[in-house]
Amino acid sequence: MNILVTGSRGQLGSELLNLWRDDERHNLIFRDLPELDITDEAQVNAVCRELSVSVIVNCAAWTAVDKAENEVAAAFRVNRDGAAVLAAAAKAAGALLLNVSTDYVFDGNGCRPYLEDDQVSPCGVYGQSKWEGEEAIRSIGCSHIIIRTSWLYSVYGLNFVKTMLRLGREREQIGVVFDQVGSPTWAADLARAIVSMLERLDPERHYADTFHYSNEGVCSWYDFAKAIMDAAALSCKVMPIESSDYPTPAKRPQYSVLNKRKIKELWGLEIPHWHDSLLKMLEQLEESSGKG
Ligand SMILES: NC(=O)c1ccc[n+]([C@@H]2O[C@H](COP(=O)([O-])OP(=O)(O)OC[C@H]3O[C@@H](n4cnc5c(N)ncnc54)[C@H](OP(=O)(O)O)[C@@H]3O)[C@@H](O)[C@H]2O)c1
Repeated sequence: MNILVTGSRGQLGSELLNLWRDDERHNLIFRDLPELDITDEAQVNAVCRELSVSVIVNCAAWTAVDKAENEVAAAFRVNRDGAAVLAAAAKAAGALLLNVSTDYVFDGNGCRPYLEDDQVSPCGVYGQSKWEGEEAIRSIGCSHIIIRTSWLYSVYGLNFVKTMLRLGREREQIGVVFDQVGSPTWAADLARAIVSMLERLDPERHYADTFHYSNEGVCSWYDFAKAIMDAAALSCKVMPIESSDYPTPAKRPQYSVLNKRKIKELWGLEIPHWHDSLLKMLEQLEESSGKG
C-alpha cells in the first residue's frame, strides 16, 4: 500500500513513524507542515496523484483546545476544511481516509460510556470543528474510517503527562480536577491499533465506519496525575479540586468515557489498561532522556 500520513510530526504521527519506520512492505509517505498543508487542495491532490496514495491517515489537526475558542476560523480551517480536502482527494484517488477525531464531539453530560452513534453535542469550538470534519468526510463519501479517541499523550510534543512531570519537579503541591472523568490513551497504543486495522483492510470494500478507541479503564484527571507522580516517584502532593476552581477558556466534557466494544469486536483488538500504558510511556521517556 502507498500510505500517506499527514500531521506526521505530531504525537500520533510520530508513533506511526516509529512503528512503520522499518516496514518495507508499504511505501510510507510522512508529511507535516510546511511541506504538506492539508488545507491546500493543490498540494494534497498533487501528493495523492504523484505517489498513487491508496490510504491517507490523517493525524493533522488543530489541537489547541483553549486557543480554538479565540481562533475559531483557524481551528475550522484545519479540522473541518482540511478533513474535507483529504476526503475529496481520497475519493478522486479511490483511496481510504482514516481520520482521527475526538471525545469532544460529546458534551460530557452522559453517565455511561459513549457509543459511536450516540447523539453528539460538541464541546466548544474544537469539538464542533472536529465534528464538522467528520461530517464533511461522510458527506463527500470517500471510503473512510473515523476513530474518536481521548486524552492522548506520548513522549512527543506537549501533553498532560509531560506537564505533570514538569510541575511535579517544580512544585510541592498541585491541584488537579477530580470531577472530569475519561480514559487516557497512549498514542503508541492507538498507532498500533491503526496499523493492525490497516494490515487487514479489504481492498475491495468501501468503508464508512466510525469507532471509539482509548486505553481501557476510567479515571479522573486527579487520579491520572496521582498515578503519574507515584510512578515517577515525585513527592509533589496532588490535591483534588473542582472544575470551577480551574476555569479554562474552553469548557471540558465532565464525562468523556468512550465505549470501545465495536472496535474490539470488529477488529479483534486487545486494548491495554491506561495504567500499564502509562508505565510503559514513562519508561520510554526515561530511556530517551538517558540517550539525550
Ligand atoms: N491530543 C489529544 O489529547 C487528543 C484527544 C482526542 C483526539 N485527538 C485527535 O487525535 C489526532 C492526533 O492528535 P495529536 O495529539 O497527535 O496532535 P498534535 O500532536 O497536535 O499533532 C498535530 C500535527 O498536525 C500538524 N498540523 C496542524 N495544522 C496542519 C495543517 N494545516 N496541515 C498539516 N499538518 C498540520 C501540527 O503541526 P504544528 O504543530 O506545526 O501545528 C502537528 O504536527 C488529532 O486528530 C486530534 O484532534 C487528540
